[in-house]
Amino acid sequence: MNKTLLNKIFYTLLPFGMMFTTATLKAQEHNIALGTEKTLLVMQADAQNHLHYIYQGAKPDSGSDQSVALLAKQSGSDFTGMYNSVYTSGGSRNLLEPAIAVTHADGNQSLDLQYVSHTLTNPSPDVQLLKIELKDPAYPVEVTLYYKAYYKENVIEQWSTIVHHEKDDIVLQKFASANLYLKSGSYWLRQYHGDWAKEMQPEETQLTHGIKTLDSKLGTRADLFMPSVFMVSLDKPATEDEGNVLFGALEWSGSFREDFEIDPDNNLRIISGINNYASAYHLKPGKVFETPPFVYTYSTEGKGEASRNLQSWARNYKLLDGKGSRLTLLNNWESTYFDFNEDRLKELLKNTKELGVDMFLLDDGWFGNKYPRNGDHAGLGDWQENKAKLPNGIAAIAKEADRVGVKFGIWVEPEMVNPKSALYEQHPDWVVKQANREEYYMRNQLVLDLANPKVQDFVFHTVDSLFIKDPKLAYVKWDCNSVIFNAYSPYLKQNQSQFYVDYVEGLYNVLKRLRAKYPTVPMMLCSGGGGRVDYNALQYFTEYWPSDNTEPIERIFIQWEYSYFYPAMASSNHVTDWGKEPLKFRVDVAMMGKMGFDIVVDKLSPNDLKFAKDAVQNYNALKQTIWQGDQYRLADPRENSVASIMYVDTNKSSAVMFNYLVNYRYDQGSKLPVRLKGLDPAKQYKVEEINQYPGTEAVVKSQDTYSGDFLMKVGIDPNVDAGHSSVVLKISEAGK
Ligand code: DGJ
Repeated sequence: MNKTLLNKIFYTLLPFGMMFTTATLKAQEHNIALGTEKTLLVMQADAQNHLHYIYQGAKPDSGSDQSVALLAKQSGSDFTGMYNSVYTSGGSRNLLEPAIAVTHADGNQSLDLQYVSHTLTNPSPDVQLLKIELKDPAYPVEVTLYYKAYYKENVIEQWSTIVHHEKDDIVLQKFASANLYLKSGSYWLRQYHGDWAKEMQPEETQLTHGIKTLDSKLGTRADLFMPSVFMVSLDKPATEDEGNVLFGALEWSGSFREDFEIDPDNNLRIISGINNYASAYHLKPGKVFETPPFVYTYSTEGKGEASRNLQSWARNYKLLDGKGSRLTLLNNWESTYFDFNEDRLKELLKNTKELGVDMFLLDDGWFGNKYPRNGDHAGLGDWQENKAKLPNGIAAIAKEADRVGVKFGIWVEPEMVNPKSALYEQHPDWVVKQANREEYYMRNQLVLDLANPKVQDFVFHTVDSLFIKDPKLAYVKWDCNSVIFNAYSPYLKQNQSQFYVDYVEGLYNVLKRLRAKYPTVPMMLCSGGGGRVDYNALQYFTEYWPSDNTEPIERIFIQWEYSYFYPAMASSNHVTDWGKEPLKFRVDVAMMGKMGFDIVVDKLSPNDLKFAKDAVQNYNALKQTIWQGDQYRLADPRENSVASIMYVDTNKSSAVMFNYLVNYRYDQGSKLPVRLKGLDPAKQYKVEEINQYPGTEAVVKSQDTYSGDFLMKVGIDPNVDAGHSSVVLKISEAGK
């Protein structure tokens, strides 16, 4: 290996922004390389046309000898020649976990994928798409690997398509989206687990030899126990600002599986995809099976940079309306539960106006007549207004909202059914259940069979009808309160092993149809708490519900971990009455994302009401910085008594810093200045405390100005203690 190889590599790695003519290249002639601003991925085919990763990580300086040596290094004792395969196929020479395993029409279970060709195109100036064709020399099975690289964000999305031309169906036993290969002395996995009201609990451990699997078999709201997001640090656990770390996530709203395997040569193989549990997929000749993208970013500057990579990628490319606006709101779930009528809703509309938020969101309980939805045991599936509660229908509430001068949004849970419902009585064959087994419920409900196109139509029309009732409908909260038990699709009959995949594809079909008709109406992806957020769904939703747990100290921890993977503007944070913290604390915590309220406004004390109204105005002034700015974590609640987080706008002229007491033991608080991040060292900034509760003094006095350099090197003490448990500081460029 010499300079010629390196030249060839960088020859293929043309700069972003240059239009490629779609040329078909051969791997023997050109090693395949794909780069972003700071990362590099290099592959190479051997004499037998097997394609291997030879480098994945930080982008070396193209002129340095060091980088040549690094790229050329092929060490180890791999006698199979497959440890570093770009897409490990099972059943031939491979001895490790495969990315793909098939049973051919003749029963043979082997697959050998050889490189055929590749193309590199620029779908847009900052994006490159690498497409690699592979095929089996003995069977007519073709696999295409896709790598989509986002230059400035240092993000890659990876997926595959599988097609065959055998005489009969083949069975996909495993069909991962991505197969990664990392080289390091040690690997540290940060993973998450949870359940209702305790989402995103982190655990970090060193990976050992063998396979560590993160997975979900829940079918829908599939992340309830474990999401697919993870971090892998190389050599040692990365900190917020130091260390090499890869963040990954599968863009799939159903069951997933991610295997982390350290091979005999101490390299880490990561294989991520749809869970193949109970899902052997029968693929017809000529039909293309496409796996969902696996998205990842790599940072050499710790977790903070990796999170900002993903957040800006999401806003620029993935999250629906990621550069747009969001609506602040008043929700009635925790203030009324199922107990409301038209008069009460009219009062709530007035409260919405008084509070100064944009919209009133009507939650669960507005529907069902034969089986009224007066609790969670009946009515789900019967999406007609309940005549006792809403004698004049949704239209009357929407009209009143218009008159009062607020927008109107509504809750729906269209994928589900209560056995006590007219829908269940009329269409028992639309329900996921096993006829010969007792029904088993989560929140007294069952899941509709979205593999069935008729059910897809029903779900589409359920949501569409809301827009027919109120053409100005401003928002939809889409809930999902059950996992899938007794997985069985009456529609799929003998093909039950397709159910888990077809359910999610059915959901996506509905969402695509809805978005074709209503491209940007904001929708919240809710799931009886968290447990349903991923980047495939976020193409259709503007925001997600992190957890039903809105106790603000718990929320600081939950929002902190979610924020590594998702941007603040997508995090629906509602102020509720959970917990013992004062209203100020609860509002300050909700401000770190997309703020909403779910409290009884007409029972607030005059001071609380004044505080809340002022806070809404403060939020309106700062929301662009929170939604579109860069997020920096300053003090980790797991390591300190105080949590500090800040957001800085892209011009570095406006910032906001949130500080909260998270430990109420004696004499806890901020004892030292907290160093800010992301400011311009040369600029002068004014620091001002906002969101002060009526009648209280500011604990951080507004000085003349500080330089960005001072604020980042010395810092500022937010003076958080038991008497001032949350302090919000607005940092503005002086003179602006
Ligand atoms: C669960 C959600 O998380 C809540 O916010 C609320 O919408 C209820 N469902 C309604 O049933």
